[in-house]
Amino acid sequence: MASFATADKPGADLYKYLIGTVVPRPIAFVSTRSREGNANLSPFSFFNAITGNPPLLAFSVNDRGGEMKDTSRNINEHPEFIVHIVGEAIAEQMNLACGDYGPDISEFAESGLTPVPGTAVDVPRVAEAMVAFECKLLHHLRLGREGAQTSHIIGEVIHWHVDDRIIDPAARSPILVDVLKPIGRMGAVEYCRTTDRFSLERPVIRPEDPRSIPSRKAALAALARPPAPGR
Ligand SMILES: Cc1cc2nc3c(=O)[nH]c(=O)nc-3n(C[C@H](O)[C@H](O)[C@H](O)COP(=O)(O)O)c2cc1C
Repeated sequence: MASFATADKPGADLYKYLIGTVVPRPIAFVSTRSREGNANLSPFSFFNAITGNPPLLAFSVNDRGGEMKDTSRNINEHPEFIVHIVGEAIAEQMNLACGDYGPDISEFAESGLTPVPGTAVDVPRVAEAMVAFECKLLHHLRLGREGAQTSHIIGEVIHWHVDDRIIDPAARSPILVDVLKPIGRMGAVEYCRTTDRFSLERPVIRPEDPRSIPSRKAALAALARPPAPGR
């Protein structure tokens, strides 16, 4: 078993260990706009939904050459963004959008994806994406040490776009993953599909079970108690 302190490994090695083991990672395909109105679109896999209520999404953008990337700088200037989920159908375009383009180059044009106006935010949305979350910035945290700064962006979803073709209200999970076909990022330049899945039913710990959560046991005991006399 390799066992080591963070301080004992070069950052580049730690990065490869991290992105090779914390897998698969979902991909936030994020559109933003600059103060001048230039559209930007880039993928980020240090990404997840971090709370359900309120619905918050978070992703991290490391600095490049000692400066914020276009995405984090744009969010500083205009605190709104749209997170798109990457299905197999737009995987190639997502990859084209990750190039180191200058701030005045639109990755919409470079990738061939179609910008349409956001509904609740003044940021272009990717028409081809089957899921888009329109977000307002909640926190822009600057993390890290000198020479390795990262922006951790937390946004609240204020408007949702979910393609009708991936919704089945009657299903146990109403989202049809086999139609959305979301991809995950692995290490280096590898990705995975979400076609090989399995189910695990959760254990059911009933309130009468001594291992149950105390508040549930107390609620059950209160139900079993006879009503107070005269009431
Ligand atoms: C699948 C994928 C995931 C990526 N994840 C991240 C990430 O989590 N953080 C990051 O800073 N860059 C990430 N990148 C690289 C950025 O997309 C790339 O630096 C891009 O040029 C940033 O664009 P911007 O300067 O327009 O913001 C990723 C690239 C790909 C293809």
